[in-house]
Amino acid sequence: MTGQPLPGFRDFFPPEHSALRVIFQAWREASRRSGFMEYEGPELESLELYTEKSGEEIVGQLYHFKDKGDREVALRPEMTPTFARMVASQHRNYRKPIKWFSIPRLFRYERPQRGRHREHYQWNCDMVGEKSAAAEAELIGTLCQAFGLLGLGPKDVVVKISDRSWWDTFLAKHGVDEQEKPGVLRTLDRLEGATAEQRKEKLGRLAGPVEEAWQGQGADSEGLMAVRRGVEQLGYGDWCENDLRVVRGLAYYTGVVFEVHDRAGKLRAVAGGGRYDGLLKKLGGEDLPATGFGMGDAVLAELLREKNIAGEKLSGADIFVVAEAGERELALGLVGQLRRGGFSADYDPGTGKWGKQLELAEAKGARWALLVGREAGEGRLGLKELASRKQTELKWRKEAGGNIILEPAPGEWAKVVG
Ligand code: HAM
Repeated sequence: MTGQPLPGFRDFFPPEHSALRVIFQAWREASRRSGFMEYEGPELESLELYTEKSGEEIVGQLYHFKDKGDREVALRPEMTPTFARMVASQHRNYRKPIKWFSIPRLFRYERPQRGRHREHYQWNCDMVGEKSAAAEAELIGTLCQAFGLLGLGPKDVVVKISDRSWWDTFLAKHGVDEQEKPGVLRTLDRLEGATAEQRKEKLGRLAGPVEEAWQGQGADSEGLMAVRRGVEQLGYGDWCENDLRVVRGLAYYTGVVFEVHDRAGKLRAVAGGGRYDGLLKKLGGEDLPATGFGMGDAVLAELLREKNIAGEKLSGADIFVVAEAGERELALGLVGQLRRGGFSADYDPGTGKWGKQLELAEAKGARWALLVGREAGEGRLGLKELASRKQTELKWRKEAGGNIILEPAPGEWAKVVG
């Protein structure tokens, strides 16, 4: 036993978990503002779901095994096949367009590196039933919204938009058949940062036409330009650029695709997605158009750290009740009542001295210390705001039913101490 998790797996101690929570809150809030509804699926799926639908790269990274019932199963490496499977089986019960989101933990056996792990959380937003460019625009607008909520803007990140169907036409025109295509797309996907010499070597006869295509930057793709207009109308035009170099590694994309990168280009993609119109039908469902994206927590956390955008303040309960040994009963009564009243309250469960209890209150990051000292017998309590060290007095009394009344009530404390 080393005390360490497996390579590529992460422990989230409370400070890291608090940073993760900030990210989740922004994801949930952006989903809510754009009208996406939350769903969840199983962590374990049949291996076949991925071998058939995800494309070679992800299949090579699967955690898979035989379960005790002799089934070939895999930990989910992405959410899209599960989403498509769920929608294919139940879509008749939902009005279109279906707009759902989820924040699954995903598993890929990748080489661990900065922003890449063997598990990560990924915010997925997907839309089914809308074939127009409004769908991609809506998704891009939603992801920009989340960045905005986290304090990031178009100076920090860029949405690079491309068109997979444009590439399909291009490759067909240059004699690349269906069998060769996945390999060529994978090569294109990995050209980021390659020199002209390396590009020539990797692309062979396609190198010239590809360079030429890149110069045009997809201005001749109607689909791509329609998405650009939609995003502009939603107010996020300056977040986007056309970039035909984005082809996406996954097999199921059929139309406009996009990736979000840090402007400085130092990190791997923060998010990626696009249109995957054929997937639902392949999973035995109806032929419904679909679009979506996934945004990972790991690269995003790196970016936030780099921009010095702090996570949430680490804190336990808001109110810490500090008591003299003889006032313990009243203190516990107060803790219980505060909690039932919707406040977060904590105390020292041991028998620490007054000073030690106050130290614990500070160490736990509480805002208030409610002081139950000797004057409690006369109906008086102390209240201290720990950060400002300001102190005041409160009155308490017990009602006939046993309820404890505090005056002023906790909701008023900021006013009386401030
Ligand atoms: P993806 O591009 O494979 O797309 O992943 C989306 C994002 O998840 C990446 O941009 C990255 O931020 C994060 N990510 C992926 N792998 C890792 C990893 N090993 N460690 C840390 N973060 C990672 C998909 O998965 C598609 N299913 C997205 C989608 C949804 N397309 C349509 N709907």
